[in-house]
Amino acid sequence: MNTFADDTKKIYAELPSLLLPWYGQNKRDLPWRENTDPYRVLVSEIMLQQTRVEAVREHYLRFLRELPSVADLAACPDDKLMKLWEGLGYYSRAKNLREAARQIAAEGFPDTREGLKKLKGVGEYTAGAMASICFSRPEPAVDGNVVRVLSRLFGDERPAETLCEEYTKKLAPVYPEGRCGDFTQSLMELGATVCTPRSPKCMLCPLLSRCKTKGDSLPRPAAKAERKKFEMTVFVFVTPFGTGLRRRETGVLKGLWEFYNTEGKQDEKAAAAHLKSLGLKNFSLSAPKTHKHVFTHLEWDMTAYGVRTEEKPGFLTWFPAEEIGKNIALPSAFRWCAKMSE
Ligand code: ADE
Repeated sequence: MNTFADDTKKIYAELPSLLLPWYGQNKRDLPWRENTDPYRVLVSEIMLQQTRVEAVREHYLRFLRELPSVADLAACPDDKLMKLWEGLGYYSRAKNLREAARQIAAEGFPDTREGLKKLKGVGEYTAGAMASICFSRPEPAVDGNVVRVLSRLFGDERPAETLCEEYTKKLAPVYPEGRCGDFTQSLMELGATVCTPRSPKCMLCPLLSRCKTKGDSLPRPAAKAERKKFEMTVFVFVTPFGTGLRRRETGVLKGLWEFYNTEGKQDEKAAAAHLKSLGLKNFSLSAPKTHKHVFTHLEWDMTAYGVRTEEKPGFLTWFPAEEIGKNIALPSAFRWCAKMSE
């Protein structure tokens, strides 16, 4: 198959006239579409990396209420930032975003793709989205959604990971002057609402008459990397002094609060022995609860015990139980067992 034959070129050229009217009538009412202020768009694009629109909506509004300007974000302390990010996951994005705000506060907002890519946490996709949406430049933003739309449209059977760069190059020349941001978002919107991974709604698609596949067979699934699996035992202290937490020192979620935990899956006898080795003398253990927490490349097989005791181990920081999850951000990997402290 000659993937980019003449008819393919013609279809590229037709995309704006097919997609823009459809987008005008069908776009979702999303809070970051109210205007094209670059700070607001940057916050939304970073939140939307790896997180679904529905999960982002409320977080986004709260974030902007609390931190309405670049200067507010640049000066935001860690705890407040983590609290505002709680529930979105991938916390390094929040710190990168604050670092980007500091760069912008010092040097001004870049308005080109290359300039935007120098901001911490901003890659090809986000730079393309911002350059087109905020600065009306013909800069495509091609992510998995857009690759799906185009590979189905053209019947392109090559593996999805290899296509981003090529689609970015082929889209740039057909960007319509004055509607660059809408064109970028029309492609995203089609991928998110019509040309969905499973059961695409082809009958609603403005590209149906041009589409080579009309269904969900492409793109071909990439071979999945095995997720590494870790077993972990968690201790949720229930004491007259409240709940004990510590900061995670390594790896995923580094720097965030967590319940005390240790490697391996411990039965009640081993768990009691572990607590004794930490210096605890009088305590009782609840029945264990288990939970699997899945990260992108990692899976935690977690076993948690509530530990009732009147002792106050010094290796933890103590908070009133009702503060946990309210003023003290707890990553969702640990939130399921917070109830054991009640
Ligand atoms: N995903 C990434 N950017 C988006 C945007 N601007 N609108 C909707 N979904 C998105």
